[in-house]
Amino acid sequence: MWSRRPGCCWMPPGRARCDCRVGDFADVPAGGDVYVLARVLHDWDDERCREILSHCARAMPAHADLLIVERVLPTDGSASLATAWICT
Ligand SMILES: C[S@@+](CC[C@H](N)C(=O)[O-])C[C@H]1O[C@@H](n2cnc3c(N)ncnc32)[C@H](O)[C@@H]1O
Repeated sequence: MWSRRPGCCWMPPGRARCDCRVGDFADVPAGGDVYVLARVLHDWDDERCREILSHCARAMPAHADLLIVERVLPTDGSASLATAWICT
């Protein structure tokens, strides 16, 4: 897991195989088994999302998985907790 700022990553219990690093999206560490983009993509437009995903793809070994954690926006414009996640 990585973030631009220290202390911004949620670390799961029993984190022996889990590491938290500070860095830019362009500095995705190579060699992981699982990559998690949690509550990240909703902050960016499609072009920037493609760029972030490309950085992940370049760093990920062939066997690695990418998990994307986001809330789905309602299509009818109704209120949603998803909007509470948007960083300003
Ligand atoms: C909504 S927060 C989600 C944080 C964490 N993934 C979570 O679920 O609690 C979005 C995160 O994206 C990080 N971020 C924003 N721009 C970034 C960049 N260029 N490179 C790396 N991380 C960035 C912010 O520092 C922030 O931690």
